[in-house]
Amino acid sequence: MIDVSRIRNDFPMIRNNPDLIYFDNGATSFKPQCVIDAVMDFYTVHTSNVHRGDYAIAAQNDRLYDEARKSVAKLIGAEAKEIVFTHNITASINQAVYGLRNLVKAGDTILVSEAEHASNLLPWFRLAKEKDLKIEYIPLDAEANMTVEGFRSAMHEGVKIVAAAQVTNVLGSVQPVREITEIAHSYGAVVFCDGAQAVPHMKVDVKELGVDLYGFSAHKMCGPSGVGVLYGRYDLLQQMDPVFMGGDMNARFHKDTTVLLKEAPVKFEAGTPNIEGIIGTGRAAEYLMEIGLDNIHAYEKELRAYFMEKLSQLDNIEIYNPDNVYGPIDFNAKGLFAQDAAGYLASRNIAVRSGNHCAKILHNVIGTDQTIRASLYFYNTKEECDRFVEAAKDITLENAVGIFF
Ligand SMILES: Cc1ncc(COP(=O)(O)O)c(C=O)c1O
Repeated sequence: MIDVSRIRNDFPMIRNNPDLIYFDNGATSFKPQCVIDAVMDFYTVHTSNVHRGDYAIAAQNDRLYDEARKSVAKLIGAEAKEIVFTHNITASINQAVYGLRNLVKAGDTILVSEAEHASNLLPWFRLAKEKDLKIEYIPLDAEANMTVEGFRSAMHEGVKIVAAAQVTNVLGSVQPVREITEIAHSYGAVVFCDGAQAVPHMKVDVKELGVDLYGFSAHKMCGPSGVGVLYGRYDLLQQMDPVFMGGDMNARFHKDTTVLLKEAPVKFEAGTPNIEGIIGTGRAAEYLMEIGLDNIHAYEKELRAYFMEKLSQLDNIEIYNPDNVYGPIDFNAKGLFAQDAAGYLASRNIAVRSGNHCAKILHNVIGTDQTIRASLYFYNTKEECDRFVEAAKDITLENAVGIFF
């Protein structure tokens, strides 16, 4: 199990902000000292480019970069050669979409859901426009959960690509990815899975899920900003074209414009990468594995259940995902704009996110496009939940307006 007080010591942000209750972990996470050290050491002890230098420090960075790829691969049950480093999951999805564009033709269908983050919709929308494809939606229940039967009913021969989150970013719905992938594959469709809200919180095994492509961002899993990951089945990665062309990813090119690319994953990593961020991401992956993803998952589930139980007793609070057992708690203070209520919580030193959380068509499912999202991580505590609930009790129109005057 998790020793939360020991874990909290690993995070300078917690030490430096002892009164802050940070429940905005769905947006980004705090970084442990070991990740900060890995990044700082690159700047202060062993700065160089990678894959370009013939001296000792450059070789050291080549090794650290390659080890980071191995650590990230281990985190999600993949092989190192199946891991592409990008700038964030948004870049990973845009790369996936670009790489799949030659596998579709006019009239084909891309199947998505209304609970997806903008990053897992807009790149597909653009591909659909460019290639004259259809976008269709997987049916969801009131808490934005997919069911295997609902998915089966949406599948048909014309579907060539399925794109869905493993855990949705607003309601924390855990989707039956393994089952839907099996169905999608029986129709010959390719599956992209958005793991941005899954990898930081639970053991993910991409081979067990069976997905073809999978993405996530380092900054939500204790790693630095500016690093994303795209996992791909190797034979599929080999077929895909890179979005970016440039240095390091080419083996040779000639005056007659012929270009020979390197093999995946290197062919997707044009130009100087975010070296220190990638080294830090490798350290973050190791840190999460040292604590244990199953331990993290069990602790967060228990903490969320505790928080839900207390918050749901408040008459002034309406919760949109009371039956989900995982992920953020999404709610409103009755009669108040989400942003005003979040402003009141901020006045009590509580950080949450308010608004539509980049899932701008989810309102079709839950009936509102303005909510407050409280998202926990494994360094949060029951005491913080108690303080949160005490503050939430006081969210009234008078109090919320009062903080502005
Ligand atoms: C499910 C999901 N997908 C994609 C993203 C986009 O992440 P990034 O901004 O790191 O690219 C987020 C960010 O909140 C997310 O929660």
